[in-house]
Amino acid sequence: MTDSKAAQAGRNAPQSQPERTPVPPFDLVIFGASGDLALRKLYPAVAHRDNEGVLPPESRVIAMVHQASHRETLPGRIATRLEQEGLDHATIERFMARITILQADAHDPGSFAALAELLHLSRRIPAIYLSTAPDLFVPICRNLAAKGLLAGEARVILEKPIGRDLASAKAINDAVAEVIPESRTYRIDHYLGKETVQNLLVLRFANTLFERSWSSRDIDHVQITVAETVGLEARAGYYDKVGALRDMVQNHVLQLLCLFASEPPNQLEADAVRDEKLRVLRALRPITGGDVLRQTVRGQYIAGSIDGQAVPGYADELGQASETETFVALRCEVDTWRWAGVPFYLRTGKRLGARSSEIVVVFKPVPHSIFSNVVPEALEPNRLVLRLQPNDGLQLHMTMKVPGSGRLKLVPRTLDLRYDTAFGFRTPDAYERLLTDVIRGDQTLFMRRDEVEAAWTWVDPILAGWHDQGARPHRYTAGSWGPSQAIGLIERDGRSWVDPEGE
Ligand code: BG6
Repeated sequence: MTDSKAAQAGRNAPQSQPERTPVPPFDLVIFGASGDLALRKLYPAVAHRDNEGVLPPESRVIAMVHQASHRETLPGRIATRLEQEGLDHATIERFMARITILQADAHDPGSFAALAELLHLSRRIPAIYLSTAPDLFVPICRNLAAKGLLAGEARVILEKPIGRDLASAKAINDAVAEVIPESRTYRIDHYLGKETVQNLLVLRFANTLFERSWSSRDIDHVQITVAETVGLEARAGYYDKVGALRDMVQNHVLQLLCLFASEPPNQLEADAVRDEKLRVLRALRPITGGDVLRQTVRGQYIAGSIDGQAVPGYADELGQASETETFVALRCEVDTWRWAGVPFYLRTGKRLGARSSEIVVVFKPVPHSIFSNVVPEALEPNRLVLRLQPNDGLQLHMTMKVPGSGRLKLVPRTLDLRYDTAFGFRTPDAYERLLTDVIRGDQTLFMRRDEVEAAWTWVDPILAGWHDQGARPHRYTAGSWGPSQAIGLIERDGRSWVDPEGE
C-alpha cells in the first residue's frame, strides 16, 4: 500500500476513542443507591468503564441505602441489572467486589459515621453522587461536611432537577456553596454527555460548512423534540410532583438549545463553554402573562397503544386523577443578533409515538426557483437533523434530480451519517463519560450554578402563568405525538412538526 493509501485506510478504519489522562483512584459514593437512576444508569456506567479496563483496581463504589433491608437485596439487583447490560460473569464479579453497602439516614448525622471511617482511611478521590430528591441535598451535604468529608479533593455530584423553582434552586445552591466550592460541585445533566450533544460543538466549530449558515440569515426555524415511549415507570412519587416542564425542559431541552444557539467559546474549557450557554439562557425571551397560553401547550396522556401494545393513561398508572403535565410544547425565541426572528419549537413528552430525540434545523427556501415548471413545483427546504437517540448521527435532507434523460424530476434524498456505522463501535451511555469526567475534575459538561438559576428564571413565569390562568393539561392518546394544540402551536406560524422516525 502506498503511504497515502495507508493514511487513507487508517483514517477510515474503525477506531475507539483514545483514553485521556488515566482516571485517578476514586471512591464513588452513591446516595439513593437502591433507586431507579442508580440501578438503571450509574452501576452499569461504572461497570462498563471497568470492563474497558479504565478504572484503577483499588477504586470502590460505596452504595448508601436508606433502608436496612436493602443491604441484603441490593447486590442481587445490581448483578441482575449488569447481566441485562450483557456484561460477562467475570466483569460482574470484579465490579461487585468493588461495592460496599452502608446504611444512612440523610437527616441523622450519627448515621454518617461508617462512611466517614471508610473515607478517612482512603487516599482516593471521593466523588459523592446525590441521586436523591433535591430536598435531601442540603441535609446530606451538611452531614458530610460535619464529618469533614467534603474537604480536599472531594466532589459532590447533584442530580437534576436542582429545586422546583428559582427560589428553591437558589436555597440549595447557597447551602451547598457553604460546604463545598463551585469548582468541586458537579450539577449533572446527562443529556450533555450524549454523543450527539458533545458532537454539536465539534460539528459547529471543527467544520466551517455549517457554522457559516448557523443564523437567521439561512435558518428558518429549529425544532427540538425529546420523545419517550415510557410512561410513569416506577417513579410516581417523584414525577407527579414535578411534571415535564421541570423534569425535561428546565434542564435537558434548554441545554440542547443552549449548545445549539451559543456563540463560539474561545476555547474548549469549562467556563468558556458555560459562559456562552449562560448568554443564550439570558437571551431567551421571557414568556409571561397572556403569552403563556399562546406559546406553550401542556398535555397528559390517556390510554392508547404503543408498538401495538395497549397502555393505560397517566391517571390510571398513577392510581388517581392528576393535573401534572406529561407533555410540553413551547415556541420560544432567542433575542440575539444571530437568532432574531428564528423561532425555536421545543417539545417533549412521555408515551409518544416513538422513542426519539432530535434537533431539526429547517433552512430557508431557495430565494428564487428556476425549477418552477418542474415536479414538484415547491422545493423542500434543506433540513439538517441531529439525532440524539436512537441511531445517533446526523442527516442532511436535500433535493436531488432523479437520474435519467427524461423530463427533469426532483426528489428529496438524505445524506445519512450514523455514528455506529461511521465508527464501528458501541456508543457509550452518557453517564459513562460524565462519571469519569467528575473524577478527572473536568466540569465542561456540567451545569454551573448561574446556568441552573437562569434556566429557572425563564421557566418560573411559565409555571406561574399555567397556575394563574388555570391551564389544565390537554389530553392526548398514548402513542400519538401529543395534543392537537401542539400541532396548532406550530401550524399557526405556517410550519409543521417533523415527527422523528424512532427505533
Ligand atoms: C431523566 C428524566 O432526566 O431523563 C426522565 O427524569 C426521563 O423522566 C429521562 O425519562 C430520559 O433520559 P434518556 O437518556 O432515556 O433520554
